[in-house]
Amino acid sequence: MTSFHLRGGEMHAEAVSLETIAAHVGTPAYVYSTDALRRSAQRFRAALGKVPRKQLMFAVKANPSLAVLRILADQNYGADIVSGGELECALAAGMTANHIVFSGVGKTAPELIAGLDAGIGRFNLELEREGQLLSALAAQRGKRAPALLRINPDVDASTHAKITTGRCDSKFGIPISEAPAMYDRLTTLPGLDLHGLAVHIGSQITDLAPLETAYRKIGDLIRALREKGHRVYNVDLGGGLGVAYRPDHLDADVEAYGAMVAAITRDWDVALLFEPGRFIAAQAGILLTRVLWLKPGQERPFVVVDAAMNDLARPALYDAWHEFVAVRPKGETFVANIVGPICETGDTFAKARTIDRVGEGDLTLFRSAGAYGASMASTYNCRALVPEVLVDGNRYAVISERTPAHEVRRQRLAPWMQSAPTIRAA
Ligand code: LLP
Repeated sequence: MTSFHLRGGEMHAEAVSLETIAAHVGTPAYVYSTDALRRSAQRFRAALGKVPRKQLMFAVKANPSLAVLRILADQNYGADIVSGGELECALAAGMTANHIVFSGVGKTAPELIAGLDAGIGRFNLELEREGQLLSALAAQRGKRAPALLRINPDVDASTHAKITTGRCDSKFGIPISEAPAMYDRLTTLPGLDLHGLAVHIGSQITDLAPLETAYRKIGDLIRALREKGHRVYNVDLGGGLGVAYRPDHLDADVEAYGAMVAAITRDWDVALLFEPGRFIAAQAGILLTRVLWLKPGQERPFVVVDAAMNDLARPALYDAWHEFVAVRPKGETFVANIVGPICETGDTFAKARTIDRVGEGDLTLFRSAGAYGASMASTYNCRALVPEVLVDGNRYAVISERTPAHEVRRQRLAPWMQSAPTIRAA
């Protein structure tokens, strides 16, 4: 079931016509479904029904829109953040500080201080020096920082190389063999309360076997730490569950994931944390875009749309597939390349794809764009950041504005420059 569907021959987001949204806000535009967000959030929670003690934290990087975060806060989700900016987003959306976990391999001192001052629930440590710094900053403030040690279990998540994070050659986490000795040292620090472990081996994972392997290694480590007399209260199992970007694929089997987690962690005696991002948000958003031109090509036509790689970077970055459909399909298909207006060949959404037959001016959309879509947009080619629209039943609202197309307002000349060029073209 999808919240983006045909009604009377036209694609709708829930009960709202996408033509209406395009007429109001223009294109390109991201459109999110409240119902889809709620359903995936509830499905993820329900799948973990057999896990007695848990906290769910949405990975803000997938979609930091305040309105999206508020929907998830209302579903009792906290936030997994990776920057001071994401901390601000989570707090502004109304998430409670102790329901926020701070991940990331390069947190700065000001970011750690912001987290301490806000009183966030967990800091996931990526290296010993970070633990020492956090302890010192906390102690200066008369606090003890609640922390988890992120473990690198050396497991390949069998996903795209750019989003695999749990192999020993990746920058993330502490090598599992070094963890017990590091735990010994970090527990002696005055400003740190080590509560347990964290692990996250990658994203867009659909094969559960690597997750299971990683979690079993964490189970062994918990036992080893307890044998040394350490306390382990919490384990953060990360995010990573994948979704179906192609119509012939399936979303990761979240119910099987829940059953696997419940079985493996049954005797861990800890509260578990989860950090899903994509699984919650990806299918809850689309990128609405209009066909500018049908340009004849050597082998096949180019469908030039008004969205580009700056708006939706995933195809250019990861060769990712995003399903492309017409808002008013005519019941015919053709084979085309789908490209954006940006001045490089990398600005290609699809090559030799069989798609709905579209013509110039037609409204179209890319599916599965609710996660890592707007959050990865840039202003390359001096293009605007596209607006985001939230639909809820038969109502909709703009939840982020289109930025001015030119970034001139943010820019200035260097003070030693004349107000006009010294040489003017004849
Ligand atoms: N926790 C940590 C520590 C993470 O690094 C990530 C994602 C998540 C949770 C959420 O993972 P998810 O459940 O969304 O798979 N830009 C890429 C994805 C990068 C993911 C980075 N880390 C893409 O568009 O595919």
